[in-house]
Amino acid sequence: MADRVGQQFGNYRLVTLLGQGGFAEVYLGQHVRLNLQAAIKVLHTHLTEQEVEHFQQEAETIATLMHPAIVRILDYDVQDGVPFLVMDYAPNGSLRRRYPKGGVVPLPQILSSVKQVADALQYAHEQKFIHRDVKPENMLLGRQQEVLLSDFGLAALAHSSASLSTQEAIGTLPYMAPEQIEGHPRVASDQYALGVVVYEWLCGSRPFEGSATEVMVQQLTMPPPPLHEKVATALPRCKTLRRHWRTRANMPTPPRHSFPASNLRQVRPLSQTSPRSRCLTLPLHWSHRQHCLRRL
Ligand SMILES: Nc1ncnc2c1ncn2[C@@H]1O[C@H](COP(=O)(O)OP(=O)(O)O)[C@@H](O)[C@H]1O
Ligand SMILES: [Mg+2]
Repeated sequence: MADRVGQQFGNYRLVTLLGQGGFAEVYLGQHVRLNLQAAIKVLHTHLTEQEVEHFQQEAETIATLMHPAIVRILDYDVQDGVPFLVMDYAPNGSLRRRYPKGGVVPLPQILSSVKQVADALQYAHEQKFIHRDVKPENMLLGRQQEVLLSDFGLAALAHSSASLSTQEAIGTLPYMAPEQIEGHPRVASDQYALGVVVYEWLCGSRPFEGSATEVMVQQLTMPPPPLHEKVATALPRCKTLRRHWRTRANMPTPPRHSFPASNLRQVRPLSQTSPRSRCLTLPLHWSHRQHCLRRL
């Protein structure tokens, strides 16, 4: 990884490294003339001329997304073959940092975060965008602690560069829906990933862990371990959850495509459920996995 602190990208000087992921480094940038800060995402790649054009088209499309719960793309360019994006700076870290791996997140916090992410996804899906990399690392926190979904479509954008490994480029396996693993992401793939995030927050672990190959095979072939095997305490009543959801969302019925409203409705106290229904049913496409398995 190149340390680019001090370099200038577009109108921004890179002040400090905020972090790095599979396909990019993210820096805090200071505008060279104005008193403005932004996050500068510098991709780990050099683009050919043809790839530059593709990158610019994709970045321009992604920059059209405007929603209070989506990190805005303010600018983009390619400098000496290195593509970069200028984004809103989210000063309070990510939900991964707030809820570290292995911890259980209290239900009110889960509902609040999921509602914001689901609203952002609903909006983007209506604009025919698929995020492809929904995970707590991409849920950032703004100045008022509001949740901001970042990296819309960037997994696919990075994937267009041949120098990146497939696994890094197309998403993050433990959250990836089977059809996305197969290279056919759709709107429901984002809802699947959000379902995995909720599962993780409820019980402290994701449905499938292990090496990349192990996770991939499990995603394609196995149902998720039921939550009641992992969560010792009974889950609250679905009615309470529904009421809570509607109060917070201030809407008569949950939005049609949003993951949490339709799925959290199935949560019941363990004592009042039959053994078969003692789990939070996530949109894990069991029938689709069977289909994939038959094709393996
Ligand atoms: N817009 C942003 N504002 C502030 N920090 C950011 C922003 N985008 C990304 N980061 C930070 O940079 C780090 C690397 O981001 P990224 O390259 O997207 O990888 P990943 O999403 O896999 O963590 C993340 O840990 C995140 O906290
Ligand atoms: Mg990210």
